[in-house]
Amino acid sequence: MTTDEITDLLTEAYIDELETVMNYLTNATVLDGIHAEEVKESLQEDIQEELDHAQILGERLKQLDESPPGSESFEANQHSLQPPADTTDVQSVIEGVLEAEDDAIGTYRSLIEAAEDANDPVTEDVAVTILADEEAHHTEFRGFQKEFPSN
Ligand SMILES: [Fe+2]
Repeated sequence: MTTDEITDLLTEAYIDELETVMNYLTNATVLDGIHAEEVKESLQEDIQEELDHAQILGERLKQLDESPPGSESFEANQHSLQPPADTTDVQSVIEGVLEAEDDAIGTYRSLIEAAEDANDPVTEDVAVTILADEEAHHTEFRGFQKEFPSN
Protein backbone atom coordinates (compact mmCIF):
# COMPACT_ATOMS: atom_id res chain seq x y z
CA MET A 1 0.00 0.00 0.00
CA THR A 2 1.38 3.36 -0.95
CA THR A 3 0.96 6.47 1.15
CA ASP A 4 1.25 10.21 0.52
CA GLU A 5 4.43 10.18 2.58
CA ILE A 6 5.98 7.68 0.17
CA THR A 7 5.00 9.54 -3.00
CA ASP A 8 6.09 12.88 -1.45
CA LEU A 9 9.50 11.45 -0.55
CA LEU A 10 9.89 9.87 -4.00
CA THR A 11 9.05 13.24 -5.59
CA GLU A 12 11.42 15.15 -3.31
CA ALA A 13 14.20 12.65 -4.02
CA TYR A 14 13.57 12.92 -7.79
CA ILE A 15 13.95 16.72 -7.67
CA ASP A 16 17.05 16.48 -5.45
CA GLU A 17 18.70 14.03 -7.85
CA LEU A 18 18.14 16.38 -10.78
CA GLU A 19 19.50 19.35 -8.81
CA THR A 20 22.53 17.20 -7.99
CA VAL A 21 23.01 16.38 -11.68
CA MET A 22 23.01 20.10 -12.51
CA ASN A 23 25.48 21.07 -9.77
CA TYR A 24 27.84 18.14 -10.39
CA LEU A 25 27.81 18.95 -14.10
CA THR A 26 28.58 22.61 -13.42
CA ASN A 27 31.31 21.94 -10.86
CA ALA A 28 32.88 19.21 -13.02
CA THR A 29 33.21 21.90 -15.69
CA VAL A 30 34.34 24.99 -13.78
CA LEU A 31 36.99 23.82 -11.30
CA ASP A 32 40.64 24.66 -12.00
CA GLY A 33 44.02 23.70 -10.60
CA ILE A 34 46.12 20.74 -9.56
CA HIS A 35 43.73 19.61 -6.81
CA ALA A 36 40.73 19.75 -9.12
CA GLU A 37 41.33 16.93 -11.57
CA GLU A 38 40.43 13.94 -9.37
CA VAL A 39 37.37 15.69 -8.01
CA LYS A 40 36.19 16.69 -11.48
CA GLU A 41 36.63 13.14 -12.73
CA SER A 42 34.66 11.74 -9.80
CA LEU A 43 31.84 14.28 -10.27
CA GLN A 44 31.77 13.42 -13.95
CA GLU A 45 31.21 9.74 -13.15
CA ASP A 46 28.55 10.50 -10.55
CA ILE A 47 26.45 12.60 -12.97
CA GLN A 48 25.25 9.49 -14.80
CA GLU A 49 24.65 7.64 -11.56
CA GLU A 50 22.51 10.46 -10.12
CA LEU A 51 20.58 10.65 -13.39
CA ASP A 52 19.95 6.90 -13.18
CA HIS A 53 18.60 7.44 -9.65
CA ALA A 54 16.13 10.02 -10.94
CA GLN A 55 15.02 7.60 -13.63
CA ILE A 56 14.45 4.76 -11.12
CA LEU A 57 12.46 7.13 -8.84
CA GLY A 58 10.38 8.39 -11.77
CA GLU A 59 9.57 4.84 -12.81
CA ARG A 60 8.52 3.95 -9.26
CA LEU A 61 6.24 7.01 -9.13
CA LYS A 62 4.68 5.91 -12.42
CA GLN A 63 4.10 2.41 -11.02
CA LEU A 64 2.34 4.02 -8.07
CA ASP A 65 0.10 5.88 -10.55
CA GLU A 66 1.77 9.23 -9.86
CA SER A 67 3.67 11.45 -12.28
CA PRO A 68 7.22 12.55 -11.60
CA PRO A 69 7.31 16.37 -11.48
CA GLY A 70 8.25 18.73 -14.30
CA SER A 71 10.54 21.72 -13.95
CA GLU A 72 7.81 24.04 -12.63
CA SER A 73 7.82 22.03 -9.39
CA PHE A 74 11.52 22.60 -9.06
CA GLU A 75 12.80 24.13 -5.84
CA ALA A 76 16.55 24.68 -5.44
CA ASN A 77 18.11 23.73 -2.09
CA GLN A 78 21.80 23.05 -2.68
CA HIS A 79 23.20 26.44 -1.67
CA SER A 80 26.58 24.98 -0.72
CA LEU A 81 27.00 23.32 -4.14
CA GLN A 82 26.89 26.49 -6.20
CA PRO A 83 30.01 26.98 -8.35
CA PRO A 84 32.63 28.79 -6.23
CA ALA A 85 33.63 32.36 -7.13
CA ASP A 86 37.24 31.18 -6.87
CA THR A 87 37.36 28.25 -9.32
CA THR A 88 40.37 26.76 -7.51
CA ASP A 89 38.32 26.45 -4.31
CA VAL A 90 37.98 22.68 -4.64
CA GLN A 91 37.39 22.37 -0.91
CA SER A 92 34.09 24.26 -1.04
CA VAL A 93 32.82 21.86 -3.71
CA ILE A 94 33.91 18.85 -1.64
CA GLU A 95 32.04 20.26 1.39
CA GLY A 96 29.00 20.94 -0.81
CA VAL A 97 29.02 17.38 -2.16
CA LEU A 98 29.26 15.96 1.37
CA GLU A 99 26.30 18.09 2.43
CA ALA A 100 24.24 17.06 -0.61
CA GLU A 101 25.06 13.38 -0.05
CA ASP A 102 24.17 13.68 3.67
CA ASP A 103 20.86 15.18 2.65
CA ALA A 104 20.22 12.40 0.12
CA ILE A 105 21.14 9.74 2.69
CA GLY A 106 18.59 11.27 5.10
CA THR A 107 15.86 11.26 2.45
CA TYR A 108 16.48 7.62 1.48
CA ARG A 109 16.54 6.55 5.12
CA SER A 110 13.15 8.27 5.62
CA LEU A 111 11.86 6.57 2.48
CA ILE A 112 13.03 3.16 3.71
CA GLU A 113 11.23 3.74 7.01
CA ALA A 114 8.01 4.97 5.34
CA ALA A 115 8.04 2.06 2.89
CA GLU A 116 8.61 -0.43 5.69
CA ASP A 117 5.71 1.04 7.71
CA ALA A 118 3.44 0.90 4.66
CA ASN A 119 4.52 -2.64 3.74
CA ASP A 120 5.81 -1.51 0.34
CA PRO A 121 8.90 -3.70 -0.19
CA VAL A 122 9.43 -2.60 -3.80
CA THR A 123 9.84 1.08 -2.86
CA GLU A 124 11.97 -0.01 0.09
CA ASP A 125 14.23 -1.95 -2.28
CA VAL A 126 14.55 1.09 -4.58
CA ALA A 127 15.53 3.27 -1.61
CA VAL A 128 18.05 0.74 -0.24
CA THR A 129 19.71 0.37 -3.66
CA ILE A 130 20.09 4.14 -4.13
CA LEU A 131 21.15 4.66 -0.50
CA ALA A 132 24.07 2.28 -1.08
CA ASP A 133 25.28 4.43 -4.01
CA GLU A 134 24.97 7.66 -1.98
CA GLU A 135 26.96 6.18 0.89
CA ALA A 136 29.70 5.14 -1.56
CA HIS A 137 29.83 8.71 -2.97
CA HIS A 138 29.96 10.11 0.54
CA THR A 139 32.90 7.86 1.44
CA GLU A 140 34.79 8.89 -1.69
CA PHE A 141 34.38 12.60 -0.97
CA ARG A 142 35.22 12.15 2.70
CA GLY A 143 38.51 10.79 1.36
CA PHE A 144 39.03 13.92 -0.78
CA GLN A 145 38.22 16.07 2.25
CA LYS A 146 41.17 14.53 4.13
CA GLU A 147 43.59 16.23 1.74
CA PHE A 148 42.57 19.63 3.05
CA PRO A 149 43.52 20.93 6.49
CA SER A 150 40.41 21.53 8.61
CA ASN A 151 39.63 25.15 9.24
FE1 LIG B 1 21.66 9.97 -6.16
